[in-house]
Amino acid sequence: MTIKDTVRKYSNDLKFVTHIPAKEVEILMMHLLDKNTIWLHLNYNKEFEQEKELIKLVKKRAQNYPIEYLTNKVSFYGETFIIKEGVLIPRPETELLIDNALEILKNKKQKVNVLEIGTGSGIISVMLALLVKDIKIIAVDINEKALELAKQNAIKHNVEENIEFRLSNLYENVTETNIDLVISNPPYIADDYELPKNVSYEPSNALFGGNIGDELLKNIIKDTNERNIEYLLCEMGFDQKIPLTKYLENFNTKSFTFYQDYEKFDRGFTIQFNK
Ligand SMILES: C[S@@+](CC[C@H](N)C(=O)[O-])C[C@H]1O[C@@H](n2cnc3c(N)ncnc32)[C@H](O)[C@@H]1O
Repeated sequence: MTIKDTVRKYSNDLKFVTHIPAKEVEILMMHLLDKNTIWLHLNYNKEFEQEKELIKLVKKRAQNYPIEYLTNKVSFYGETFIIKEGVLIPRPETELLIDNALEILKNKKQKVNVLEIGTGSGIISVMLALLVKDIKIIAVDINEKALELAKQNAIKHNVEENIEFRLSNLYENVTETNIDLVISNPPYIADDYELPKNVSYEPSNALFGGNIGDELLKNIIKDTNERNIEYLLCEMGFDQKIPLTKYLENFNTKSFTFYQDYEKFDRGFTIQFNK
C-alpha cells in the first residue's frame, strides 16, 4: 500500500480520539520512517513498508494514549524536547511562565540564580538557560525518572552546564541562600478530580496537588517567603485565584499579579516579596 493510502486507511481508526486523524497518522509514520513532512508528501505514492509497526502505534493511540509518548517528542516554546511515559507532557500554557520570567530576568545585569520546583521534563529550566545569558539553575523534582529525562533534554540543548538537577521534595534538599527567583508549575489539581482518559496516562504525582489542589502552591509560597527570595512565579488552577489572593494576605508582598492563559482562564501568578 502507498503512503497516501495508508494515511487514509488508518485515519479512520483515530477519528474518535483526535480532530486531526490524518495528520496524526502522518506523525506516526514520520516517526517510524524518521522522515519529515516534506519528505512524506514528496513520497506520497511510494510503498509504505512498516504497516505492522504502524498498526501497533495506531491501536495504542486509538485508546487515547498520548501521541507524544508514542513519538517521544514534544514541542515547547519553539524547541523540540524528548518526552517519555512517566513524565508529564508539557502544555502550551506553561510557555506563559517563561514569558513572565523573561520579563523579570531581562533587566538583571548580574548573574541570576534560579530554582525550579517540579522540573518534570526540564522544559522550563532548559528554556531559561537557553534564553537568559548569565544564569545558574537548580531544578528539583521528586520523580527520578523525570530528573533523568530533564538531564537528557539539557544535554540535547547544550545547557547542562547551567542546570543542576536534584532530587528534592520542594525545598527539602535546597540549602542555597543566593536564589533570586523561584519558578514552578507544581501539581495543582484536586485529588478527587476525574481526569479525561488521555491525561490518565500521565503520572498522578505530577497532577494532583492535595485534597483541595492548592496545598503544594501554598507550601511553595510560604517556603519561598521564609527563605527571603524576591520573586516567585507559578502556574495554578483556573479556580485558585480567589483562595490564593486570600492566602497572600498573610505575607509581606511588594506586588502580586495573576495572569490568564490563551483561553482566558486564570492560570498563574508572579509575586515579588518585600525582602
Ligand atoms: C505539573 S508537573 C510540571 C512539569 C514541568 N515543569 C512542566 O511544566 O511541564 C509537576 C512536577 O512536579 C513534581 N513534583 C510533585 N510533587 C513535588 C514535590 N513535593 N517536590 C518537588 N517536585 C514535585 C512532579 O514529579 C512533576 O514532575
